[in-house]
Amino acid sequence: MKSFIPLLIAAGIFSLVACAQQPEPEAAPDSGTASATKTFSANVQPILTKNCVSCHSGDKPAEGLNLESYDGLAKGIHNGREAAFVAGKSSESMIVKVLTGDGAKQMPPDKNDAVSAEDVATIAAWVDAGAKND
Ligand code: HEC
Repeated sequence: MKSFIPLLIAAGIFSLVACAQQPEPEAAPDSGTASATKTFSANVQPILTKNCVSCHSGDKPAEGLNLESYDGLAKGIHNGREAAFVAGKSSESMIVKVLTGDGAKQMPPDKNDAVSAEDVATIAAWVDAGAKND
């Protein structure tokens, strides 16, 4: 029995050390990305670049609307005579209306090139959040 006590102590120490070596629980994955705020540079410009700049670029962009940059979009349609968006109001913004076909010309003109519903929602969310140059 005498030699049993140190053995118990040793076992106790061992289990303490083993516990201390348990790995930390994994950090919770970032679940906020799907609903994260849409920014112009990261989310909106890539959609415009992919679907629109083939016509809306250069010195004489279609309908006087250059979609190569935030400045062009903010300047507006007809070289600045008509706003391309109303900050905070996607339903009143031409840049969104042309995508949804809501009483305006459909863009891109070829229906086969229609922007995906997800991308339309991205642009609308960005306009509703204030259409900032972020
Ligand atoms: C194939 C060329 C082409 C592409 C691609 C294109 N557009 Fe256009 N866009 C035009 C033309 C041409 C007009 C002038 C109106 C017309 O003739 O139908 C126009 C007009 C517009 C207008 C003004 C509409 C109005 O009623 O005043 C907006 C806004 C617009 N485009 C946005 C876009 C957006 C956003 C995209 C990308 C999703 C896009 N366009 C892609 C050729 C294009």
